[in-house]
Amino acid sequence: MVEALINKQRVANSFSRAAGTYDSVAELQRDIGTQLLTLLPQSSPQSMLDLGCGTGFFTPALKQNFSDATLFNLDLAFGMLQFARENRPAEKTHWLCADAEALPLATKSIDLVFSSLAIQWCENLPHLFSEIERILKPGGRFIFSTLGPQTLCELRIAWKEADSYVHVNEFMPDSDIRNAISDGLMLTHLEEELRILKYAQLKGLTDELKRLGAHNMNAGQQVGLTGRERLRRFKSAYEHQRLDDGTLPATYQVYYAVVEKPLGN
Ligand SMILES: C[S@@+](CC[C@H](N)C(=O)[O-])C[C@H]1O[C@@H](n2cnc3c(N)ncnc32)[C@H](O)[C@@H]1O
Repeated sequence: MVEALINKQRVANSFSRAAGTYDSVAELQRDIGTQLLTLLPQSSPQSMLDLGCGTGFFTPALKQNFSDATLFNLDLAFGMLQFARENRPAEKTHWLCADAEALPLATKSIDLVFSSLAIQWCENLPHLFSEIERILKPGGRFIFSTLGPQTLCELRIAWKEADSYVHVNEFMPDSDIRNAISDGLMLTHLEEELRILKYAQLKGLTDELKRLGAHNMNAGQQVGLTGRERLRRFKSAYEHQRLDDGTLPATYQVYYAVVEKPLGN
């Protein structure tokens, strides 16, 4: 299964609203993106794209690594892009409000695509990869991090105890990522990491998700108020997962990958 029903307007609105608070709670996201930077190629690209650039946190690092390259910062959420443009301005940088699955970029125009924790919000991964294949120059690379299905499993388990609605995003396994990669691209690196964040109180986690803008965007979620009884059941089920050290865990399953477009394609 490589297609998830994602409400993109909801994704855009949620991240736009979170633009001003995102950086204050995005420690894990910064760590993951920083680790992804270690997979940057040695050779200098002329053009690079930060796909789902968010607040533009990685703009300075990308510019520092490749000062001569033209950078395209792209995001679905206009609010994120506006924040990034104001707070992380950079020379030879263009700002694009667009969908990763329909890129407003010319065929064979980009040498390097960097994308940290954005493609998990895409609806159709084969579309995404065929767009990446189209815009990459032969010899170009797509390096990305994304989330796997174990991500926020504790939250999913707790909500399952409370009701039958989808409250937590469904993230795709690496087999779906592999299957989605188009024939003209080659997966050259894929590693997985489990990170477990710990919280004293459940509110710490739920507030953080809100400030990140990372609410549930899958179809099938409940519209309207969450009833008091369901909420009580949810909290109690999460509490049952408290660890011996007294904290509440939140698991993130992270994939780091490199995909290359071979020369001659
Ligand atoms: C978790 S944030 C990551 C931001 C940044 N890359 C970072 O690591 O701090 C995910 C970003 O992806 C963007 N995004 C989600 N779906 C997208 C899509 N289909 N096309 C482009 N951007 C998208 C969101 O608006 C959000 O800014």
